[in-house]
Amino acid sequence: MRTRIIGTGSCLPETVVTNDDLSKIMDTSDEWISSRTGIRERRLVKEETTASMSIEASKRAMENAGVSAEDIDLIIVATITGDHVTPSTSCEIQAAIGADRAVAFDINAACSGFMFALHIADAYFKSGIYKTALILGAETLSRIMDWNDRSTCVLFGDGAGAAVVRADDTGLLAYDQGSDGAKGMVLACQNRKNNNPLVKNPMDMEYTSMDGQEVYKFAVTKVPSSIKKVLDEAGLTVEDIDYFALHQANIRIIQSVAKRLKVSEDKFPTSLDHCGNISAASVPILLDEMNRKGLLKPGMKIVLSGFGGGLTWGSAVLEW
Ligand code: ACO
Repeated sequence: MRTRIIGTGSCLPETVVTNDDLSKIMDTSDEWISSRTGIRERRLVKEETTASMSIEASKRAMENAGVSAEDIDLIIVATITGDHVTPSTSCEIQAAIGADRAVAFDINAACSGFMFALHIADAYFKSGIYKTALILGAETLSRIMDWNDRSTCVLFGDGAGAAVVRADDTGLLAYDQGSDGAKGMVLACQNRKNNNPLVKNPMDMEYTSMDGQEVYKFAVTKVPSSIKKVLDEAGLTVEDIDYFALHQANIRIIQSVAKRLKVSEDKFPTSLDHCGNISAASVPILLDEMNRKGLLKPGMKIVLSGFGGGLTWGSAVLEW
C-alpha cells in the first residue's frame, strides 16, 4: 500500500502587494528584496481568512481528484495561523464541505507542516484505518508579522494549498522527517498573552522574529541530506527525479540545494516570485501550480521537501 496524491487545489488572496508597494510603507526596495530572496510580490488577505482560503482550496482539490465529501475519511490542516484556537481550521473545512464522516484536526510543524500531514495520512493508510484524506497547508502569516521589522515581514505571504491523497498501489516511495527543538528560537513567534491572573506578563506581545542566517545554514545543510536519504531509501538517484518541489523560503536556498545535489535549477520549479514564503502552504500551492500547468505526468518521480520553524524538516519522493 502506498499514499498517492490524486488531486490538488489552492487559493490565494485577491490583493497583490508588490515590493514597490512595500517600499512605500517601509525603508526597503524591490532591488533589495528580489536580489536576496527572489520574491517580487505576495498576496495578503483583506477579507479572506485561513478557513475561507482552505475551504476554497479543498473544493478545488476535491474537484481535481473527482472525489465527493462523503469519500473523505480524514482532514488534516497544517497551520500556525488558524483563525481560532478552537474550532480547528480542519473542523471548519469539514463543516463547510459537508464531510460528515471525516475526522478533522490541525497540526503545527510550521513550514514543514504539509509534509508532516502527508506522513500522518500515510501512517493511517498503512495501518488500514483510513483510505482517503484531504491534507492542507494554510496560512495568514500577515497577521503574525512585525510590520516594523523589514528584515522579516517582506518575506512572507498568505494562501492555502490542498491535496487529496488516497491509499493506492503507487505514490509515496520513501519519507524522511525530523525535528531539532534545541534550535527552535532561530525562528519564533509568541502566542497570545497568558490570561491567567496568577501569571505576570512582563513582555509586550511579540510577533515573528528570525535569525535569517541561522535559518539559511540549517536549510542548505539539512534539506540536501534529507533528500539524499529518501532517494537512498527508494533506491533512486537525483537523475531519476523529474522535479524537486521545495518549500518556497528563498531562491538562494533553492539554488544552493540544487548545487549541493548537482542538479540543474530547471528541475526546481518556484512560486516564490509571486507568492513569497507561505510556510506550510508553500509546497501544496507549488504542487497545484505544477499540476494545473500540466507538468506532472503519471509515472514521474517527484521530490517534495519542507523545512522551517521548530526547527523541523520533512522530505518525500513519490511517483505521480
Ligand atoms: N530592505 C532593505 N534593507 C534591509 C531589509 C529590507 N527589507 N532587511 C534588512 N535590511 C538591511 C539590514 O538592516 C542590514 O543593514 P545594515 O548592514 O546596515 O545593518 C542589511 O540589510 C543586511 O541585513 P541581514 O539581515 O544581515 O541580511 P542578509 O544578507 O542576511 O539577508 C535574508 C537576509 C534574505 C533573510 C537572509 O538571511 C536569508 O536568506 N535567510 C534565509 C532565511 C529565510 O529565507 N527565511 C525565510 C523564513 S524561514 C523558512 O521558511 C524556512
